[in-house]
Amino acid sequence: MNRFVWRLTFALCVCVLCIVALSCGGRQKVRKADGLAEKADSIVLFANNCAKCHGDDGRATNLRAKMVRASNLTDAEWQGRVTDEQIAAAIELGPKAMPAFEKKLRPSEIQALVGHIRSLRAGTEEAGATP
Ligand code: HEC
Repeated sequence: MNRFVWRLTFALCVCVLCIVALSCGGRQKVRKADGLAEKADSIVLFANNCAKCHGDDGRATNLRAKMVRASNLTDAEWQGRVTDEQIAAAIELGPKAMPAFEKKLRPSEIQALVGHIRSLRAGTEEAGATP
């Protein structure tokens, strides 16, 4: 009987430890995946809505970009003087030949795009330092 109680206690401890380990590890994984998902979302959003005029890399070097005179979003000088609010406003209102995205995208999506545009800045790790 005594042995049985010990075994039971041992089994319970193992169970509890497993649950604790799983829930901790699981939560961390979810948090990491959230960040990755956000990044992937903003890349998809940009590819679907913006790349045709600003180019996949934001540099606006494609033919369409030249035709509509879209801005080079990686330009470090522009990135340096523009605020996140101004970028968001440009996406919402659409300057010149650019359509307004105010009604097409959710505020969270516009914010994600602002973050994505910031990551395109020339000379940063992600965009690479190619001129
Ligand atoms: C139909 C082509 C087109 C599409 C689609 C488009 N843009 Fe533009 N974008 C332009 C043009 C043209 C300008 C104006 C350039 C200027 O002001 O001289 C511009 C300007 C901007 C600016 C402001 C740049 C500045 O000089 O202040 C931002 C930011 C921007 N676009 C981001 C985006 C984002 C993000 C998307 C996708 C949600 C997008 N654009 C989709 C054509 C486009």
